[in-house]
Amino acid sequence: MEENIGTLVRLPIRYLHRGLTLTSPMFSWDGERMLLPSQSILTNERIARLVKHNNGRDFVMVDTDDYTKIVGQRFGDAFKQTDLVKERIGYQGWDMATSKVLDTVSKAKRIDKKDIEEIATDLCNKLALSDSKTIVTIINSLNHVDRYLESHCINVGLLNGLIGQWFGLPKKAIDRLVLIGFLHDCGKTRVEKEVLTAPRKLTPEEFLLVQRHPVESYNLLGDYPLDIRKAVKAHHEKLDGTGYPDNLLADQISIEAKITAVADIYDALTAERVYKPSRSPFSALRMLDSMVDTELDGRIVRLLQANLPQELVGRLVTLSSKEIATIAGINEEDAEHPLVKLDEQVIPTSKELFIERLH
Ligand SMILES: [Fe+2]
Repeated sequence: MEENIGTLVRLPIRYLHRGLTLTSPMFSWDGERMLLPSQSILTNERIARLVKHNNGRDFVMVDTDDYTKIVGQRFGDAFKQTDLVKERIGYQGWDMATSKVLDTVSKAKRIDKKDIEEIATDLCNKLALSDSKTIVTIINSLNHVDRYLESHCINVGLLNGLIGQWFGLPKKAIDRLVLIGFLHDCGKTRVEKEVLTAPRKLTPEEFLLVQRHPVESYNLLGDYPLDIRKAVKAHHEKLDGTGYPDNLLADQISIEAKITAVADIYDALTAERVYKPSRSPFSALRMLDSMVDTELDGRIVRLLQANLPQELVGRLVTLSSKEIATIAGINEEDAEHPLVKLDEQVIPTSKELFIERLH
């Protein structure tokens, strides 16, 4: 438990506040001059100097204690770590590009590879250059309910890529996984939005319509290699043969489709939708357990469970008690309820005191 104390978080200069202590020295944007040494306590004058010489863009490392106490309590729910990470990585551009792609697809018979290339390349490059924590932060951001499909495409693409990295796959295979994840649900543009976002139980006819989307995705990807199209088409297949559209069995489903199935379900569980609240990543990972062997490949689920939680350490959260805390570590005895740091103390969360939302 001790080693989790003193976790560092990245904070953009523009969110600095007096009283925070720098945990590393700050240099001018060109790296030539040291502006402030490590352990400097920030004052308004010092913050002004940092802003002036860094163009307001750089990040500083501060301690989670400081962060929760000063930044978290001050900005509360209005402060979202996720938004800052998204801004840094250029998420707005991805969101707009994805929206354009989906809009074009909804009117066309097939996807033009050129339309996809730019965003897919950027997703792959940013994934390769970023640390896992950054990518996990983006994936576990609060999705805007109206933009679910856009963020779902981006999230599943990125999560597919992360899983590929954790498996130690070569870059080419990772890039393919990102592409498959990004495109897997493009056929949903063929289903009426009212049906996709209906805050009620679907009628059997509507359900059948929604279930056609993997086939629609397959058809739209006529310009892509067959194995990519097949993986996209198979992302709702289950190991026991009860999935759709082809009732494939475990050994008939490619590893890429199996990875996409895990990423897809994880993202759907953690997303907020018009008909359901979001679920914490810890709770979602636990839920995947119940699907192992019947629906999902246990190797992929276990890989996700072994790698993802530690990337959430340091995240600012609101607890069910409405208090702001930071995730301090994993509770080995109860993976669904991590340890949080609250008022200087590391305590386990529980069914009664749980994580209500991530920032
Ligand atoms: Fe799907």
